[in-house]
Amino acid sequence: MADKSLIDLSWDDFDEHRDPRPDANQFDAVVERAISRRGFLGGALAFGSGAAVFGTGLMSSTTASRAEGASKFAFAPIDTATDFAVHVPEGYKSQVLVRWGDALWSEADGAYSAESGVPVEMSDKVFGENTDGMELFVIDGKEVITVNSEYVNPKINLPEASEGMPQTADEVRLLKNMQGVTVMEIARGDNGYHVVKDSPLNRRITHETEMNIAGPLAGHDLVKTSADPEGRTVKGTMNNCGAGKTLWNTYLTCEENFNGYFGATGEMPEGEGYKRYGIGGEGRYAYEKFDPRYDLSKEPNEPHRHGFVTEINPADPTSMPQKRSALGRFKHENAEMVHAADGRVVVYMGDDERGEYLYKYVSNGTWAEGQDGGDLLNDGALFVAKFNDDQTGEWLPLTPETTGMDAAEILVFTRMAASAAGGTTMDRPEWVACNPLKAEGYCALTNNKNRGVKPNAGGDDTSVNGPNPREANRYGQIVRWAPEAGNHAADAFTWDLYVMAGNPTVHDDAYAGSSNVNAGNMFNSPDGMAFSSDGMLWIQTDGDYKNEGDFAGMGNNQMLIGDPETGEIARFMTVPYGAEVTGLCWSADKKVAFAGVQHPGGSWPDGNGKPRSSVVAIWREDGAEIG
Ligand code: FEO
Ligand code: CA
Ligand code: CA
Repeated sequence: MADKSLIDLSWDDFDEHRDPRPDANQFDAVVERAISRRGFLGGALAFGSGAAVFGTGLMSSTTASRAEGASKFAFAPIDTATDFAVHVPEGYKSQVLVRWGDALWSEADGAYSAESGVPVEMSDKVFGENTDGMELFVIDGKEVITVNSEYVNPKINLPEASEGMPQTADEVRLLKNMQGVTVMEIARGDNGYHVVKDSPLNRRITHETEMNIAGPLAGHDLVKTSADPEGRTVKGTMNNCGAGKTLWNTYLTCEENFNGYFGATGEMPEGEGYKRYGIGGEGRYAYEKFDPRYDLSKEPNEPHRHGFVTEINPADPTSMPQKRSALGRFKHENAEMVHAADGRVVVYMGDDERGEYLYKYVSNGTWAEGQDGGDLLNDGALFVAKFNDDQTGEWLPLTPETTGMDAAEILVFTRMAASAAGGTTMDRPEWVACNPLKAEGYCALTNNKNRGVKPNAGGDDTSVNGPNPREANRYGQIVRWAPEAGNHAADAFTWDLYVMAGNPTVHDDAYAGSSNVNAGNMFNSPDGMAFSSDGMLWIQTDGDYKNEGDFAGMGNNQMLIGDPETGEIARFMTVPYGAEVTGLCWSADKKVAFAGVQHPGGSWPDGNGKPRSSVVAIWREDGAEIG
């Protein structure tokens, strides 16, 4: 790893760089042991057939439905692909809606060039790079998509001579502007959907946009800086990964790998919290060399102001985004809000790093249709998930009594609070999605090569456990839970594994995957997830796309659709080589689905010049609903 520059590392490998494994040989030995443990598979699959949590045994009912041909899918599943194209099933069409560099306002028309990308002067007037979580809103009869631009590829944005590291303050500004959030009106024309340029609802929110720290941390010493001695106003929302939508129709953008933007030009400040969050050393984009705000030796509290769920009101382009500190600070993947049976508001949230935790926020107050709700995200309780091996589980409260930390420390150093409370270490919790037709939640646990190999960054044991049953887990799984009495605010739940991804053409042990995985639908590294209104689970992958070795036959990253009742999973979409599928939402009439294509390879979609991350529209040729 030492011979690679930081910018060439995936965010996952960046974590590893900060917190390296003991040594490669030990890792290899553990993989060997895991693979040769033949007896293990039976134990793992007993979750489905032996202990049916949700009425029908998951794995056994999957087999049964296959035999009966009871598929509810309206499409014929597609094959894997290894090319530089998007594929959808027969009878469906896809088309690019918007690409990195496309103008959101007329003044930026023609700003993008295939040779040099976007000039700095226009960089906050165009669609950002590396699209991720998104939601669709209807505002005064207009359709508006809010969409994250998670990070930048500096080698694509900056002149070649820079070799991927900004050389001037202007180049840093360009990178800052290419990330964050885009709010854009879209409309249907003769050629499908397009972005409505110059709409008064269009907005770019970047690493420099002013926003509030809302909730219990507002004004606290831990979030005060020299530029903001009151600790209430922050610039920027960073590394916006997954998303969520509130019951009151605002957008939740989730700050994931915020740690990578900070660096120290001098002495590092002291504190266990920096190490636990992977903060220190050199920043990924050299921001700290040009902007003291990102220099830890000058502004030790600045990183305490990032890593939150931030609420944005797309209906008011002048509104201040609100960092909802009550929801805790960690590498937030997404924020799945549901209205609990008892009227309270519940937000499920994953912390995407190896061996970190799954969380839940429960508001103190209740919500009713038609109410605004922002304040409900300022006053509530935070919990970490504990999964017991007997398929029960509980939400452990993060309080001074359970953690030995004060209320503010719990919100700034939430990971340390979760460790102290005794949560279950997970295999990189990515998106959470809740079934709209019944009270159950699903979390994609994307993979974790360190499971059973080394502790997490806080030293917590990461031996195999119920929902994370495979050592050196490179394929991932999806865990689901049903809250007690159908009430998402309840403290207790039962759980099972909806699917364990794997490769049955390469392995005949636990790494072959659960019985609803076969040679025709296999995939690795589930990441994005969302339910369509008909109760189907759409699963997006961000995995190994080399199509060889453990991943032979899986092809490019893909989007699949799963039936929660039968366990059946079918491949719906493949994306260009190199890309992952990120973010999903539907048009108001449900006739069009929008999915993101992040970090494509080649010259997709233009066919020449640079690869351009894009949002793609997908619809049925017969005009029927697709979700
Ligand atoms: Fe940005 Fe965990 O994905
Ligand atoms: Ca993700
Ligand atoms: Ca991922």
